[in-house]
Amino acid sequence: MWIFGNYSRRLTVIGIDMSILLFNGFLLLGFVVAVDVLPPDMRGVLQIVDRNPVLIKKCTYSKVYSMLEAQCSKMELDNIPFNLNKDVQVLDITVNRLRDLRNDTLAPFKSLVYLYLGDNFIQNIEEAAFRNQHYLEVLDLSKNGCDEVPKSLFQLPHLRTLYLGNNKLTDSVFKMEVNSPLKMLQLTKNKLTKIPNIGFIPTLQTLNLSDNVITTVSTEDLAPFCSLKALDLSRNPIRFNDGNCECQTMTAWLKERKINVNSDFVKCAATNDCAIINVQFSNRTYELYNTCSVIIQQKVETEKARSVWILVVSCVSVFLFVVFVALFCVHKRNRRRRKKQKEQQQLAANNANTELLNSNLTVGNS
Ligand SMILES: *[C@@H]1O[C@H](CO)[C@@H](O)[C@H](O)[C@H]1NC(C)=O
Ligand SMILES: *[C@@H]1O[C@H](CO)[C@@H](O)[C@H](O)[C@H]1NC(C)=O
Ligand SMILES: *[C@@H]1O[C@H](CO)[C@@H](O)[C@H](O)[C@H]1NC(C)=O
Repeated sequence: MWIFGNYSRRLTVIGIDMSILLFNGFLLLGFVVAVDVLPPDMRGVLQIVDRNPVLIKKCTYSKVYSMLEAQCSKMELDNIPFNLNKDVQVLDITVNRLRDLRNDTLAPFKSLVYLYLGDNFIQNIEEAAFRNQHYLEVLDLSKNGCDEVPKSLFQLPHLRTLYLGNNKLTDSVFKMEVNSPLKMLQLTKNKLTKIPNIGFIPTLQTLNLSDNVITTVSTEDLAPFCSLKALDLSRNPIRFNDGNCECQTMTAWLKERKINVNSDFVKCAATNDCAIINVQFSNRTYELYNTCSVIIQQKVETEKARSVWILVVSCVSVFLFVVFVALFCVHKRNRRRRKKQKEQQQLAANNANTELLNSNLTVGNS
């Protein structure tokens, strides 16, 4: 029965398909006839419209991990399309001609999670350009002409991956503290002369500083990043002072913290005075590292306290609900019982009345 039902439904679908096909066929026929009927110069116009896809270029939408994505790459855009869906969560507008990000450029798009702006000509980003981006997690600004990025960018509450490679950023850009939970910071091919001094980032795991002009590095530069796992310092003119075992100290710190560093980084000169076993890290290094670790611990504890609270509140709610349901049931049962009793009493009274009547009748009959 079921199979039969399905079969007949499919037949109907085919029927609809057939009719659509036929309808399209007629349309096509009509179009061909119309084109044939058109004067020759109009035919030319139709052909131009057909062959010039620039005129009808549009961002294409799709769903990625249940997020709305707009794909606007390589469209020679010099601004974000005015009719772009405001609810877009993933926006790829790489390889275009954007020149600046003004305060209002991204303001209408409040749901962005992934924003790819790489390979444009962006030079000027106004301070409040990212103000509405409360959900932004990944931002790609690489391959642009930025020599400044707004300080507010580093305060975004969910930003975890930031690509700033291939720009013109200098040390002065990083005169602030990062409060975003950055896991990955990509700064390759810029003009940095030292590791950015950007406060404690307990979440940072990958720091890419390859192709800059960094000359000195020390353990104190890295200690505020206490979760660091990968560090790329390749193609930087780093010089160590041989006199005070700087190179060995650095190598020892990287080893102790299990930080993966690109292979061509440190080749310390062999000196007997600086055996790796003897190196001492400065008190400041420990201080910075410990402060960073404490922040992580506090976060874990806050999180734990929160989940305990959530558990307690849920338990109490469930308990109250059960009590309420139980009370309600008892109340309902009592009411039903009382009703039954009443009914029984009434029935008994009625019976008594009937009996009385009957006895009266019998008395009357006799
Ligand atoms: C952009 O916003 C910042 C911060 O609110 C403000 O100082 C600046 O004047 C704004 N720029 C323009 C052009 O309105
Ligand atoms: C750093 O960036 C460069 C350039 O994109 C890349 O080749 C390299 O693999 C990156 N390093 C790490 C550790 O991710
Ligand atoms: C580092 O700390 C230790 C113990 O707290 C102290 O004895 C030592 O003098 C400190 N070293 C420096 C250079 O401050």
